[in-house]
Amino acid sequence: MPSPLDVFRGDVLAGHVALVTGGGSGICRGIAAAYARLGADVCIVSRKQDVLDAAAAEIRAATGRKVIGVAADVRKPDEVARAIATTIEQLGKLDTVVNGAAGNFLAPAAGLSPNGFRTVIDIDLNGTFNVARAAFEALQKAGDSLVLNISATLHYHGTPLQIHASAAKAGVDAITKNLAVEWGTFGIRVCGIAPGPIAETEGMKRLAPGEIDKKMMAGIPARRFGTIDEIAAAAVFLRSPAAAYVTGHVLVVDGGHCVATPALGMSFG
Ligand code: HXC
Ligand code: NAP
Repeated sequence: MPSPLDVFRGDVLAGHVALVTGGGSGICRGIAAAYARLGADVCIVSRKQDVLDAAAAEIRAATGRKVIGVAADVRKPDEVARAIATTIEQLGKLDTVVNGAAGNFLAPAAGLSPNGFRTVIDIDLNGTFNVARAAFEALQKAGDSLVLNISATLHYHGTPLQIHASAAKAGVDAITKNLAVEWGTFGIRVCGIAPGPIAETEGMKRLAPGEIDKKMMAGIPARRFGTIDEIAAAAVFLRSPAAAYVTGHVLVVDGGHCVATPALGMSFG
């Protein structure tokens, strides 16, 4: 089965060092693996060291690159600082940050506790700021740097049972634009990817269990969920020299899901 990553030259990311939060699983593990496959060294970060160790070992074996895993909670600035310091110590520098750590669950707004709302804001939104802020000095020093924030399309419309994640991801997109404006002068581009529904991920297991799958599929012009490699390919493009003049932009990768409105109850045929 060909991968969308096959179109990239094998050394297109050589010389880059990336820290990928959420890189032990799902979409961000796919981004970390794609970056390593195309020549970058990578530090993956999440809360569970055993998960990180297993993922790092597999990516190392598949790519031959330096891949390390450092446990840190993105809500805790001291742990984030330690992960960044370890990356620089072991991989020599840091020029790329992928903010993918996130938490989510389905919950009606009226039944969601303040702590439930705060928890998701804390991981997705505050975590994105914490990591970008802590990496600033290293990114500025490295030059030709990128912060890549993974958001979603939930907040483009009102999405039931997703007030916490929608609010968090709207904030993440705001961070992308604001940092692009402030940090362009320091040689740091700041971009986003807004994935649509991606198959075989924890996110889809939580948000679209069982039968809901089929209904969602009918609302996607591409008539299928995306793949992890399709998001990874967008992340490679944004890190590559092909995107050197792209900043402040959030690239939607969703098979057309967010532009398709089922007007007046009509189906898409
Ligand atoms: C309502 C819930 C809940 C649920 C937790 N809470 N789960 N409320 N429904 N299903 C509430 C708890 O009751 C508690 O509030 C508060 O949230 C904090 O819960 P903890 O379990 O203490 O939090 P924590 O251990 O920090 O775990 C965070 C988590 C957890 C988000 C709750 O699920 C997690 O670690 N998730 C990481 C993996 C993940 O979610 N992956 C999916 C990302 S997908 P109280 O008031 O009781 O104290 C994604 C998709 C986006 O982001 C878009 C897709 C289209
Ligand atoms: P996932 O595998 O659960 O990824 C989330 C990662 O974040 C996990 O590795 C988790 O590891 C880590 N994490 C959670 N809380 C953390 C914390 N406090 N500190 C550090 N790391 C933390 O889910 P996914 O579906 O692949 O989602 C990946 C990203 O894509 C997320 O940003 C999500 O919002 C976005 N997205 C996904 C979809 C989709 O269809 N799946 C759609 C749109 C957007 P630990 O729990 O071990 O810490």
